[in-house]
Amino acid sequence: MASRFLHPALFRFIILASVCLVSVGQSAPAAEWMKRQAEVSRVKLLQNVSAPGAARGSVVASPSKANPDYFYHWVRDAGLVMEVVVNLYRASRTKEEKAYYFQTLVDFIRFSRKNQLTKTLAGLGAPKFHADGSAFNGPWGRPQNDGPALRAIALIKLARVWLAEGQEKLVRELLYDSKGDSQTVLKVDLEFVSHNWQVACFDLWEEIKGDHFYTRLAQRRALIEGARLAYQLGDRGAADWYLKNGRAMEASINAHWDGARRVIVPTLNRTGGIDYKSSGLDVSVILGVLHATGSDRFFSFSDSRVLSTFHRLETMFDKLYPVNLKKSYPAVAIGRYPEDRYDGDGFSGGNPWVLATVGFGEFLHRLAAEYEQIGHIQLDGGNVGFFQSIGLKSVQKTHFQKGDRVFEALVERIRVRGDAFIARAGFHALKDGSFSEQIDQHTGFMRGAPNLTWSHASFLTAFWSRGER
Ligand code: NOJ
Ligand code: NOJ
Repeated sequence: MASRFLHPALFRFIILASVCLVSVGQSAPAAEWMKRQAEVSRVKLLQNVSAPGAARGSVVASPSKANPDYFYHWVRDAGLVMEVVVNLYRASRTKEEKAYYFQTLVDFIRFSRKNQLTKTLAGLGAPKFHADGSAFNGPWGRPQNDGPALRAIALIKLARVWLAEGQEKLVRELLYDSKGDSQTVLKVDLEFVSHNWQVACFDLWEEIKGDHFYTRLAQRRALIEGARLAYQLGDRGAADWYLKNGRAMEASINAHWDGARRVIVPTLNRTGGIDYKSSGLDVSVILGVLHATGSDRFFSFSDSRVLSTFHRLETMFDKLYPVNLKKSYPAVAIGRYPEDRYDGDGFSGGNPWVLATVGFGEFLHRLAAEYEQIGHIQLDGGNVGFFQSIGLKSVQKTHFQKGDRVFEALVERIRVRGDAFIARAGFHALKDGSFSEQIDQHTGFMRGAPNLTWSHASFLTAFWSRGER
């Protein structure tokens, strides 16, 4: 596989020519559908927050109580969902709307603080709680230490919004009290992350114990951004400590790059859990970049290591699932990893996932935005496969400046492909806009947990990443 990449030196000599400029632009019906779906996803997401029969402030992963039973508050899913709610709060237009989101966020903060105080088998690394907030003590892969990091990322965002609104008192009362023995949810999470990031844990798929790219990247972002907030609030000692630990984990994150195979591998130092993930390919790497790339561009979208991994995943999933054989589909449906056996309720084999497929769409939109910001595209041995896959036929140059015809064409190409991934998920949605967890690899029907909250959250962040077009 690695040989598919041209050696950069060779590459320079290849005389190539142009990017085809056909069929760019999003069709009006697709754009219309996305707008409608965004409203449906917003409503369905909110139905799973403080759901009937669940505690106030909880987020059930899905309303489904059997086959599968997803009626639990997963810390990871909830963190990702609440980041979406923070965005909705910030964007709300009426007083009523704003008050509603405000209350939702405060409920979540209170519920989360209760979770922190509840005795669990894995401390703050508890993967999930019963919907009433009590500890879940059944057999499960634990700890899962991405949860507190993701919750912290969402709450840091909220703290910033509140500070910008002049609500510092609220931030100190509910989120970050600057105390050594803190009683506030965000500070407690940051303390936990900063003291425990070295500890091996289960991955976001709850299957394998070790050191994970996804988890570490989330932990790093929490600490780097947490440090900034701590400085702002005058908690200098803590800020230094968070920053120091955020930086300290960079070497271990870099170690996930397998230069020989040109992929970022999801897990190192496996110590338990499933042992059959031999390919080293996992969409969690891309989700990590989506959820945890900060403004400092550490492992960001345009990083050649990331683009190489993205491209490898796309070609692999394209061949893996029967439902991808129909080439009339707008883009490839993306799953978790090739050896996956989990079918959403049992183990008949893995399938494409909604959150992975729309996640690929979001990735491309944010990649396009990043190139616009950087102002140029540099081709190299790591990213050339990706650029060829979006239609770069040939080039005389390996460097394109913003404003150049080729730069503009490539960025547009990336956006069009981004929309195609979003549309692909939409193609499999139920008529009423419901997204389950998975897309059956044979039939294309929705399968697994219905109205997975995280699927709807992913659709919304993907939709927003399109920006004003
Ligand atoms: C449910 C988990 O959430 C899923 O990710 C996993 O594949 C199965 N259990 C098997 O461990
Ligand atoms: C299974 C997924 O593997 C895991 O990431 C998720 O947290 C749970 N389902 C709940 O949605």
